[in-house]
Amino acid sequence: MEKIVVLDFGSQYSHLICRRIRDFSVLAELVPYNISLDELKKLEPKGIIFSGGPSSVYISDAPMPAKEIFEMKLPDLLSGIGGPIRAWMSHGDEAEQVPSSFKTIGHTETVSAAAIADQKNSIYGIQFHPEVVHTEQGTAILKNFALKICKVKQEWTMETFVENTVNEISKIDGNVLCGVSGGIDSTVAALLIHKAIGDRLKCIFVDNGLLRLNEEREIEEMFRKNFAVNFSSVNAKQQFLSKLKGITDPEQKRKIVGEEFIRIFTDFAQKNGPFKWLAQGTLYPDVIESGVSKGPAAIIKTHHNVGGLPEWLNLEILEPLRELYKDEVRKVAEILGVPKNLLMRHPFPGPGLAVRIIGEVTDKKLEIAKIASKIVEEELEEAELYDKVWQAYAAVGDDRAVGVVGDERKYGNIVMIRVVDSIDAMTADWTRLPHGLLEKISNRITNEIEDVTWVTYVISSKPPATIEPQ
Ligand code: XMP
Repeated sequence: MEKIVVLDFGSQYSHLICRRIRDFSVLAELVPYNISLDELKKLEPKGIIFSGGPSSVYISDAPMPAKEIFEMKLPDLLSGIGGPIRAWMSHGDEAEQVPSSFKTIGHTETVSAAAIADQKNSIYGIQFHPEVVHTEQGTAILKNFALKICKVKQEWTMETFVENTVNEISKIDGNVLCGVSGGIDSTVAALLIHKAIGDRLKCIFVDNGLLRLNEEREIEEMFRKNFAVNFSSVNAKQQFLSKLKGITDPEQKRKIVGEEFIRIFTDFAQKNGPFKWLAQGTLYPDVIESGVSKGPAAIIKTHHNVGGLPEWLNLEILEPLRELYKDEVRKVAEILGVPKNLLMRHPFPGPGLAVRIIGEVTDKKLEIAKIASKIVEEELEEAELYDKVWQAYAAVGDDRAVGVVGDERKYGNIVMIRVVDSIDAMTADWTRLPHGLLEKISNRITNEIEDVTWVTYVISSKPPATIEPQ
């Protein structure tokens, strides 16, 4: 497929450039700035975009691309933009003099070379961010570059993606094991594989007792009712909760949950195998973040021992979504007929409520976290805000505060409400919910959960905080 390649020089917006280009159906891929010339050529880009980055060009080890890239002669940038636009700029260095082959095609009151072009060699430079929503006509500039200058074809649609992926997966032999969590990524991965190889796929869902209220029932129902996939569920509540007994350290909790998952998976694979493949719902940002450089065509990667699976299981990894961003997965889900309530369900961490409960995971804290989170979700739905925020939940710890219940003084738990806006979970801001809504949530939680006396709202953004409390 024809594509634009984005060289990543470390800007926090590098991803966003790809996202914006994909929005107009052109495949855009992010690769490290120091990719070798050979590897870059193998990708056959129709055009190359250099992202910004935090380093000044004047530091001794400033990141530099291969010089030859400028000689690739890949393909006017601002055509149709018209008069002045408001552009979002954020930079340390500035070009005061432009090279002789370039002419200045855009400026601001303070920056003389805000956009430059060497049309003969088809090289363009801009000192602002067309990919952020604050830049007016930013998408039009990216479109000019991709469609008019690079003449790349708009082939990147989710319908073609489904068709090509199913076609590719149908060529594999052997059985596939796919762990499904009820989340959108693993569900979509399973459905794509099922479309390609039918009952050679087996899905396993583990109820670890750390899910949202009634979620285990809902997930099983959704799979059995909507999809014809081979689905098994394992009730491992007691197994997980007894292993977590007395454990307060967050990292240890994560480790225990991870280990139990592997134990159950391994056991299942032994009893229901043989399996050749393990399917995962890995997304494009995960691939890039983990620093795994990607082969040109690979939705299929041969790995052993991923995620701590024992090597003797000898499974190869199948990752049909490794090319996609979250919003693209949602589009694929729609095409595959995934019900809307799952489509819009907020992300939920693998270790589940173990990381939303501070201190030891106890039955009482589990109940508080589940019911209070349900109240938060219900009230956001009611206010038509659920689909607009990234995540919303209630966390609970061991701290207690005084309350008065029926004229009696009592110590109850403190519940922390966390609602955040984010586009990719890398950064997040707390959502400015209306005070009336916060009040209603607080009233419901203290009225409906006997053990809670105080409700707090978390107003820390990420960074420095994270989305989950542990
Ligand atoms: P943090 O808390 O690091 O979370 O800001 C970023 C995003 O990742 C989710 N999250 C996890 N997901 N396993 C997961 O599958 C985990 O261990 C995990 N920890 C955090 C979190 O809900 C948020 O969307």
